[in-house]
Amino acid sequence: MANNQYDIAVIGAGPGGYVAAIRAAQQGAKVAIVEKQYLGGTCLNVGCIPSKAMLHIAEVLHQMGSLEELGILLPQPPTFDMIRAVAFKDKVVKRMTGGVGTLMKGNNIEVYDGLGTVDASRTVTVTNNGDKRQFSADKIILATGSVPLIPPMPGVDGRNVMNSDTCWNLSKTPESVICVGGGVIGMELACMFNALGSKVTILEMLPNVLAPVDDEVRKLLVRILSKRGIEIVTEAKVEGIADDGEQKKVTATTEKGQQEFKAEYVLLAVSRRANTSGLEGLIEQGLDTDRGRVRVNEKMETNLPGIYAIGDLVHGAGLAHVASAEGEVAADNAVGHEATMNYDVVPNPIYTFPEIAFVGLTETAAREKYPEARIERFPWIAIGKAVAIGETEGFTKVIMGKYGEILGAHIIGPDATNLISEYSLAMRGELTVDEITETIHPHPTLSEGLREAILAVEGRPIHIVQKQAARAR
Ligand code: FAD
Ligand code: NAI
Repeated sequence: MANNQYDIAVIGAGPGGYVAAIRAAQQGAKVAIVEKQYLGGTCLNVGCIPSKAMLHIAEVLHQMGSLEELGILLPQPPTFDMIRAVAFKDKVVKRMTGGVGTLMKGNNIEVYDGLGTVDASRTVTVTNNGDKRQFSADKIILATGSVPLIPPMPGVDGRNVMNSDTCWNLSKTPESVICVGGGVIGMELACMFNALGSKVTILEMLPNVLAPVDDEVRKLLVRILSKRGIEIVTEAKVEGIADDGEQKKVTATTEKGQQEFKAEYVLLAVSRRANTSGLEGLIEQGLDTDRGRVRVNEKMETNLPGIYAIGDLVHGAGLAHVASAEGEVAADNAVGHEATMNYDVVPNPIYTFPEIAFVGLTETAAREKYPEARIERFPWIAIGKAVAIGETEGFTKVIMGKYGEILGAHIIGPDATNLISEYSLAMRGELTVDEITETIHPHPTLSEGLREAILAVEGRPIHIVQKQAARAR
């Protein structure tokens, strides 16, 4: 058993862990990272990256339906080859995970392949196929992420029942899919399967899908997806899955009583749980957890000395960029600096098509907290770029406080997940509406929505085009 000593050991190489390792190494620390399955974690292997590659393919296919108006004539409907699509997705994943390997080497980070177990004296044991290696570290950052939650109900381990770890390598488009859960995963994958040609049903137990999303934004998304043929059934609590030999039969309790829904495949998307494999010993030794997640303070410290925790393992947004930001904070503290995590401005992206993105408070939350809040929306049908690309179903909504500061911003429309950065930046910089209008110059992009919404707030609902024309006169 080799014995090494490191300044910092990171357990788990997802976007939390690998970013923490790099940050610590760049500050001169001797760093080891332990990964039991795949560099890049959930995000690069079975989460953000494969889903974005497959959603991209699905969206391209969806757009094929409206090419004729643009003068592009292709045989309709276009044919789709799942095997090639999966090969493209694999290429993307390989490139991204390979990049993580290169970053580890480039920063002299020692990578240990295997399951890391940790004890409170900060000794790490790495087990790989019966082979055990051990080392110790001054500080440890736990970044073991999360795994799909498999609900305790009959039939969840049956044939053709998938989850977000297992749905990426199908050999053909399913004829029909039932998504159990209308959260982020359920909605994104419903869009994907629908565009690839499956008949999709979403069963959600709450009164609404996408609970954290602004009501008005959600309503528009539901309308668009319903028009596309996706069946969304809310207040439908799934209780079990059976198999009649040909189809899956999903039983749900709805307002009409027990109902049965049939499809070729079932996708379980009922949330994720913290992955504490390898941390059992630490938990026995007193690591503080709350409903399965490790409890940390704003410095990402756990209750055990020298041990930090970040990412999906702790309570929080469940987003890759948040895991990375927490990794940087933990690494900075572990090398002896002072850093604290600030969750005030966290952009949330949802890659349905149209995309949704938001930052800050929803309208309902803002009205409750700040009765004087002002709310403005601007429809994309009036934005030149949106009309030019034939994507006019969407709007931008900005919520402002009494000093003109932005309390929240919500976008539904193409490229929303990129456009939200402008609002996030404005919120983080505490810019007021006046400061923003002084800074942003009219230009023919989708971000006109920001300026337009703000001009509308100021009682000047003038279209930029008209304003420019007026200037030219
Ligand atoms: P993970 O990425 O889960 O990585 C943890 C790693 O630790 C894993 O590689 C695991 O094998 C390893 N590990 C666990 N235990 C041990 C052990 N004992 N020893 C050694 N290694 C161990 N977020 C976004 O921001 N944008 C998106 O578009 C987005 N899309 C998503 C799509 C899907 C389908 C899913 C499932 C998630 C998506 N997410 C997205 C969420 C994002 O993937 C997670 O928030 C992010 O991966 C969390 O990073 P992490 O480092 O905490 O954990
Ligand atoms: P989620 O918590 O967002 O949604 C799960 C949904 O399932 C909830 O609406 C819940 O009410 C419903 N549900 C639970 N049990 C049910 C039952 N028995 N019957 C019917 N409905 C039931 O979790 P999800 O979608 O699994 O995603 C997990 C996390 O992954 C997200 O919270 C997010 O943090 C991350 N993620 C982020 C993405 C992004 O940023 N674009 C994309 C995908 C995932």
